[in-house]
Amino acid sequence: MTQLPKIELHLHLEGAAPPAFIRGLAKEKSIDIGGIFDADGHYKYKDFWDFLKVYEAATSTLQSPEDYHRLTLAVLEESAASGVVYSETFLSPDFCGNRDVGAWKEYLHAMQEAADQAERQMGITLRGIITCIRHFGPEKARETALCAAETAGSFITGFGIAGDEKILAPKDFLWSFDCAREAGLRLTAHAGEWGGPESVRAALHDLNVERIGHGVRAIEDLALVDELAERGTVLEVCPGSNIALGLYKDWRAHPIAELDRRGVKVTVSTDDPPFFHTTMAREYDRLADALEWDKGQFLKIAQTSLDAAFCDADTKDRIRKTLEAAHA
Ligand code: ADE
Ligand code: ZN
Repeated sequence: MTQLPKIELHLHLEGAAPPAFIRGLAKEKSIDIGGIFDADGHYKYKDFWDFLKVYEAATSTLQSPEDYHRLTLAVLEESAASGVVYSETFLSPDFCGNRDVGAWKEYLHAMQEAADQAERQMGITLRGIITCIRHFGPEKARETALCAAETAGSFITGFGIAGDEKILAPKDFLWSFDCAREAGLRLTAHAGEWGGPESVRAALHDLNVERIGHGVRAIEDLALVDELAERGTVLEVCPGSNIALGLYKDWRAHPIAELDRRGVKVTVSTDDPPFFHTTMAREYDRLADALEWDKGQFLKIAQTSLDAAFCDADTKDRIRKTLEAAHA
C-alpha cells in the first residue's frame, strides 16, 4: 500500500525523530542518552509512562532552530517515502525555547522553511498543530496557547493537548483552548487512549473539540459511540501505537473497524512511528491484512482525513485532486 496517497493527521514531530538522527545530535553535543536505545538502536521503554520519559530525553538533544529544521526534513522524508502527501504535525513550544514567544517564532520559522523545501522536493504538504502537554500543567499550557495565538495562520492551523491523560482534566485547560479558538485555531485533544469513555466525553463537552486524538476507548460505551457519530467528531486513530503500547493485543482486536461500522469518522495515523516500529505504509498494510481493507476503504479514510484537515480550502482542493488521480 506504499503507493497509495495518504493523509496523516496525528504525528508528533519529536516522536517521529528517527533514533539514528537523535543519536547523531547527542554525539555532536556530547549528551549522554545511551540508556534510551536497545541493542539494535531502537528506542527502548517499558510502558506508556516510561515512553513519555524516553521521548523527553530524546527531545533534550533538540536545542536550536537549526536542529528543528533538520528534524522536520528528516521526518517529512520518512512520511513521503510512505506515500503521505499531506501531514499535520504536533509542534510543542515547550521543547522549542521554553514557550518564549520570540524564541518560538524562530523555531517555527526554521520548521516552515524545512516544510517549504520538502514540499518543493518531495511533494508533501505540512501544517502544524500547536500542542500543550497535560502533565506539564495548565500554567505552561497558557503560555503555549499564547505562542499559538501569536503564530496562528496558514501554517499553524490548530491547537491541541497531548501527554499523560491520567493527570488533571480537560476543563483545567479551558483558558488555553478558548484562547486558541479565539485566535481562529481549530481544536483537537488526546483522549480515550489511557482514559476511558468519560475522558472522551470531558474533552468533547468541556473543550468542544472537533477531533479527538485516539478516542478508541469510546467503544466501551456505545451511547458515546452514537454521540460521536451524530456530532461528526473525527477520531485520529493510531492502531499501531495502541498495539505497541499494549492497549490491544493485536490488529484484529483493535476497535477501528467497529467504530467505522457504527458510523464514527475514523482516520489512520502513526503517532510516534519509530517508537512503535511503524510507518504509514505499514499501518495500511496491517489494516489490509488483518481487516481485509481494500483500496476503496483506504480512499474513504483518506477523504475523511482530508475533510477533517485543518488547512484552507485551496490546499484541500489541491490534495483532493492528487487523491482522485491515484484512485481513478
Ligand atoms: N505524546 C506523544 N505520543 C503520545 C501519545 N500516544 N499519547 C499521549 N501523548 C503523547
Ligand atoms: Zn499522540
